[in-house]
Order: sequence, then structure tokens, then C-alpha cells
Amino acid sequence: MVARTPAPPRAVVFDAFGTLFDVYSVGLLAEQLFPGHGDALAQIWRDKQIEYTRLVSMSGRYRPFWDLTRAGLRYAVAHRGLVLDPASEERLMNQYRHLSAFPENREVLEALKARAIPAAILSNGDPEMLAVAVRSAGFAPLLQHVISVEPAQRYKTDPAAYALAPATLGVAAREILFVSSNGWDALGATWFGFTTLWVNRAGLPPEQLATAPTRTGTSLRDVLSFFPS
Ligand code: LAC
Repeated sequence: MVARTPAPPRAVVFDAFGTLFDVYSVGLLAEQLFPGHGDALAQIWRDKQIEYTRLVSMSGRYRPFWDLTRAGLRYAVAHRGLVLDPASEERLMNQYRHLSAFPENREVLEALKARAIPAAILSNGDPEMLAVAVRSAGFAPLLQHVISVEPAQRYKTDPAAYALAPATLGVAAREILFVSSNGWDALGATWFGFTTLWVNRAGLPPEQLATAPTRTGTSLRDVLSFFPS
């Protein structure tokens, strides 16, 4: 029997925060405002933000990602025994509105467009947060859809959240390449049935839950390895 190469994906769907948009600047500002605490604050903030998405999702108490991001920040600062004045809170929250995009994104999105492969975002972020980030990165002409989980009132990794992508694109999950730099998101997406790429930018160990993403890479460029050159 001749081994068949799987057909290339018919669409590519990207996670937003950490995958397309670099959340590193958040830690830099945190360090500036709270010297010696920047890294820890950024880490606790991000972990708590994601923990809160799971908490409200599992309890059927959806709240906007922006609110959970603010709640996570307040928790992180309190955890470090620090005091967050309103001006610093606004400055840190505003970092989320002005995240820079990773440098290789544009060429990857342009390469997909040149191949007529639809590209989209599926993110926990609220529609307004995503719209600002996409607009300021200049990605609007390169993305066919910017999908927030908001209509599902469930956060990833709830299947109802992932289901928005095949429904919006009109493409079956296994024919969609889902790309995330969050190991848990790549795992949830694999369980859902997408073809997946985990962009392991941070060099983290794989999730230990006996399911591996279809491929693991180190930059968004690895998306192009799914397509014949
Ligand atoms: C998102 C978070 C998970 O954009 O990074 O959905």
C-alpha cells in the first residue's frame, strides 16, 4: 500500500493572546510599576485570568474576558502583597489593548492569503478587545473571520467554544488547522477534532494527558509546513 500524505488543511484558525499577539509587554510594564515583581505578576495574572475563564465556564456564569482579565490582575497584585492604584490598574489593562504582534505573523498570514486559504481567529477575548488588537496590527485584510467565544458563553476548552470555528467557516474541524501557543488550548483543540499545531514558543514540556497535538513547532512559520511548497 502506498502511504498517502494527508490533504492540506482547508482553513487555519489562530488563538489570539500569546499566539498572534505578544503578551510580553505586559510583564515589562508590571516590572516598571512594581520593580522586582514584573515576571511573577505577569505569570500569576495570566494564570488567574485563564483559571477564571474555566471557573465561570464550568459554573455557567460567563463574564466578559475583559472583566476576568481585570479580576486576574487584582488577584495577582494582592497575591504579591502589593497595592494597585487606579491609574496603574488602567495602565496595565491598557497594555492588553495595545499588544504587539509577533514579527513573523504577517508573512505567514500573507502566505496563506496567497494560497487562498481562509485564516481566522478563535479567541477567548471579547469582540472589542479582538477588534482593537487586529486593527492595530493591521491584520484585518488578512483574516476572514475574527471569532470571539462570546456567543457560546463558554470559554475554551469547552467544545461549544471550539464549535464556533467550523460553524462560522463552514469547514469540518479535522480540515481546519488550529494553531495555539498555549499547550492546554492545543490539547483541547485536538480533543475537539481539529488538526493542531502547538507553537511552543516558551520551550515548555508537553501536556501530560496522553494526547499530543498533530505537530509541535516553535514559531508561526511552522504553519506553512502543513502546505506543499
Ligand atoms: C485566547 C487566549 C487563550 O486568545 O489566549 O483565546
